[in-house]
Amino acid sequence: MEPQIIATSPFDGQRPGTSGLRKKVKVFQQPRYLENFVQSIFDTQPDLQGGVLVVGGDGRYFNRESIQVILRMAAANGVSKALVGRGGLFSTPAVSCVIRKYAAQGAIVLSASHNPGGPDEDFGIKYNVASGGPAPESVTNALHTRTRTIDRYLTLDCPALDLDDLGARQLGDMEVVILDPVADYAELMESLFDFNAIHQLFNSGHFRMRFDAMHAITGPYAVEILENRLGAAPGTVMHAEAKEDFGGGHPDPNLAHAKTLVGLTQGPDGLDFGAASDGDGDRNMILGKDCFVTPSDSLAVLAANAHLTPGYKSGIRGVARSMPTSQAADRVAEQLGVECFETPTGWKFFGNLLDAGRITLCGEESFGTGSDHVREKDGLWAVLFWLNLLAVRQQSVADILADHWRRFGRNYYSRHDYEAVDLAGAEGLMNHLRILLPDLPGRQLGRLTVNYADDFAYTDPIDGSRAERQGIRIGFEGGARIVFRLSGTGTEGATLRVYLEFFEPDPSRHHRDTQEAMEPLILIARELAQIEARTGRRDPDVIT
Ligand code: G1P
Ligand code: ZN
Repeated sequence: MEPQIIATSPFDGQRPGTSGLRKKVKVFQQPRYLENFVQSIFDTQPDLQGGVLVVGGDGRYFNRESIQVILRMAAANGVSKALVGRGGLFSTPAVSCVIRKYAAQGAIVLSASHNPGGPDEDFGIKYNVASGGPAPESVTNALHTRTRTIDRYLTLDCPALDLDDLGARQLGDMEVVILDPVADYAELMESLFDFNAIHQLFNSGHFRMRFDAMHAITGPYAVEILENRLGAAPGTVMHAEAKEDFGGGHPDPNLAHAKTLVGLTQGPDGLDFGAASDGDGDRNMILGKDCFVTPSDSLAVLAANAHLTPGYKSGIRGVARSMPTSQAADRVAEQLGVECFETPTGWKFFGNLLDAGRITLCGEESFGTGSDHVREKDGLWAVLFWLNLLAVRQQSVADILADHWRRFGRNYYSRHDYEAVDLAGAEGLMNHLRILLPDLPGRQLGRLTVNYADDFAYTDPIDGSRAERQGIRIGFEGGARIVFRLSGTGTEGATLRVYLEFFEPDPSRHHRDTQEAMEPLILIARELAQIEARTGRRDPDVIT
């Protein structure tokens, strides 16, 4: 079958953000919009010619159509083999696992993560490289540059391919293999965690849990792993059916969007454990009875207890956290005597550290936790890690946390988001802060004294690449911190994120209400950044 060459012209704004290109479905549905981006991947990633490409997505609206477009274009661009999840489905961590297991050259992943799905909602596409991780900045920059001059794309003129039956078939000169999207991933999880111990915990008769798949991609993964392999009671996975619009919900596992689950863990009859994942399965939220584990604390607890699981029993080599993530993990790393890295926001910045063997665990405050087992954050992995700890330590989530704080101190933490604010206003706010920076150190704000203030920049210790203007950090004496940055994943206006952190060494003060403990920092942040005057918003839209 001869490739067809179709003339096209560039679209503005195809620059990938924190995690790929995200736009409204309607934007992606414009003729040639998706094609331009996909062709730019092939034009800038010559390894794909004659190589193996993994293709899959979180099943959101427009997933199936996009996969057909991508497969035809892959065949026309000389890819020799495509590995596709049945039904066009793969969770983001499963994509990473499959790339590594089958030594693929890369993957095209269709997802807008936790953003809502449906004809009027969001869609996204990102490229992952041979290590299994998100494309580094050098790749996304090249890709974006290519989208600005693209003038043709290659495709085949052929009918849609059957994506629902396992096995191999032919598309032009390319072989397409439809894989069970769960099998390879489940096998990897079994190699890392003590499935027998978790099985016993589930069958002990005194452990009750729910996993909320939020009608998104982890439904089939969680049912297979938790219910079928680990023997959790049927129905343990709630909202298990993956839907194109996520049941109309916002598939973001946090206190605001997983309210039902949170309710189930509260009160005298509260569950022992609750967990949830997001649209594409890379995020996680961990709850105990009347207890929420912040993602920052979760990373620190996993680091401190990793030796209790089979996959990490020889200890961890190092840990990394994104800059706005709390410094709880730093304290663990210090006690363990391992390296700790502070990286810009976005999973791609962990890639080099993981590849070089400098870190074993990494995490972000945005409900992302992961390790060197793949190169993406991994929702179910974190849930299984916690289950393994609960089974071995025979303690409640709350007790594990309280123990942890007694040992390391507590980093109270909260993020306040101001969503869809006016872009110019938000940029003005950041510039205003940048101008203040040089005068802040030594200054007294409220009752706190500024220790340092900067616009975070990062030099990758492995390849020396540099990322600048990654967010304003204001550190105070005693370990408190305020961080301001603008989101790189939003699809409407700007989203201002204000990250607040407060360190409390005294165990008698470890059980305060978080927002209350934050009050002094909230006031400082509001005033210093002139949030209301510059965004027109008094209060944040989402507090996590
Ligand atoms: C957000 C999170 C960030 C995460 C990204 C992709 O990006 O803050 O930690 O890596 O989503 O899941 P942001 O919108 O803040 O740029
Ligand atoms: Zn996600």
